[in-house]
Amino acid sequence: MIYPDFLSVLKLDVCDSTNNYIKDHHEDFRHRFPLLVTSRRQTRGRGRENRQWFSPDQLGLYSSFGYFLKNRGNLNLLSLTAGIAIADTLAKIVGESFKIKWPNDVLAQGKKTAGILTETVISDDRIFCISGMGINVNHRQGDFPEELRSQAVSLRMIAGREFDIDTVNATLAHIFFKWLGRLEMGQNRTIIRRVNRLSHFVRGETVRIREGRGTVKGVFERIAPDGGIVLTDHQGNRITCYSGEIQLSY
Ligand code: BTN
Repeated sequence: MIYPDFLSVLKLDVCDSTNNYIKDHHEDFRHRFPLLVTSRRQTRGRGRENRQWFSPDQLGLYSSFGYFLKNRGNLNLLSLTAGIAIADTLAKIVGESFKIKWPNDVLAQGKKTAGILTETVISDDRIFCISGMGINVNHRQGDFPEELRSQAVSLRMIAGREFDIDTVNATLAHIFFKWLGRLEMGQNRTIIRRVNRLSHFVRGETVRIREGRGTVKGVFERIAPDGGIVLTDHQGNRITCYSGEIQLSY
């Protein structure tokens, strides 16, 4: 498959985590940025909030993009930009629609197909970013551990056929850098419009956001231009949250 010609691509058989791999080698790699590290499996795939990311051999896509970001004002939109790239890539490849569940997940049929782990280091005038993406590609339902079975779905389960992971990876690389370019050019409104169009939650739904020890409940309004999520609480106050786990509230 053809990857973007400006991108260095490193394909591994195994590593602990592709995000860790870039971090551990970033002194050697920085002159090769932008860089994609992808692995057939991960022994310690990481999710958000110290969770594990289930990473068996060749069933999923496990990729991390390492790059420098020019504008630190864009940090809040990085995960959402990755979410658009994944949703657009999967829609193109599978021919189904995929939704973004703010702030870091991509869903199909209401279940999780992909997750994003964004990590950044700001040093001097440079912002070093890693956008880690895990996509459930060729899993059958029984391949997932029991505790994930009701919440996770793969492309194979959706489409009833297998997919070539390298093709998904190369398509994702093209689409991710197209959207990242838009972000760097200040086209934040285009990005937010797309995120709102792809949002799993629709305006008027009551949701609950758990952040640290607290929970905020309110009616979903929209994703704001700065990447926060806007809710209206039962007293009519507008609240904007910037991180947390979101769920429908009944
Ligand atoms: C989440 O949903 O909690 C985020 C999951 C991110 C998983 C990907 S797989 C490639 C990269 N390497 C990791 O260790 N994690 C990310």
